[in-house]
Amino acid sequence: MAKYLVISSSGNPSSNSRKMGRIAFQYLQKARTDCSWLDLAEMGLPLCDADACYAHPSAKRLSTAVKAADGVIVAAPVYNYDVSASAKNMIELTGSAWEDKIVGFLCASGGMSSYMSVMAYANSLMLDFRCVILPRFAYATGDVFDDVTLNDAKIIQRIEQVSAELIRFTEVLRG
Ligand SMILES: Cc1cc2nc3c(=O)[nH]c(=O)nc-3n(C[C@H](O)[C@H](O)[C@H](O)COP(=O)(O)O)c2cc1C
Repeated sequence: MAKYLVISSSGNPSSNSRKMGRIAFQYLQKARTDCSWLDLAEMGLPLCDADACYAHPSAKRLSTAVKAADGVIVAAPVYNYDVSASAKNMIELTGSAWEDKIVGFLCASGGMSSYMSVMAYANSLMLDFRCVILPRFAYATGDVFDDVTLNDAKIIQRIEQVSAELIRFTEVLRG
């Protein structure tokens, strides 16, 4: 049975991308998949120094979780027209654990003009680790969230579409 992982990569305690990730995780649970949730904010990860960081217990735990998954959803904040440094640090720490994964993205931003910000990150996963990137991602600006959740039916539907596509791609590609 295929394994799925949803990763929340924001360090913000009231992160909007985490709220998006939660909706995706609930969808995967309802679809009765074998799915796990990982919140980088709770892991105490080191910054990648290309040396001692790889032996850090949290970095090892993260690598193991990524390696074990077939399909991964990354929920990420948009910072400076890219994804956050925390999301990039995750890839730097785990590298080849990403080989051949099917990957989808959920992005939280401040405004609409940063909607292609995830592309450099997606390219790096595709070209470095031969990940298959879902050609659909969910993107939400701050106005659709309250303190607890997301209140926009279209964005919720979009997150569920991304989650359904992750299952579809993973099942086909993993046979
Ligand atoms: C350092 C920093 C840089 C940001 N850069 C952008 C940006 O380039 N484009 C944008 O639309 N929003 C930007 N924002 C707004 C965030 O994308 C927004 O707060 C989003 O909710 C962050 O995701 P999170 O709530 O999951 O942490 C930035 C916010 C911060 C703190």
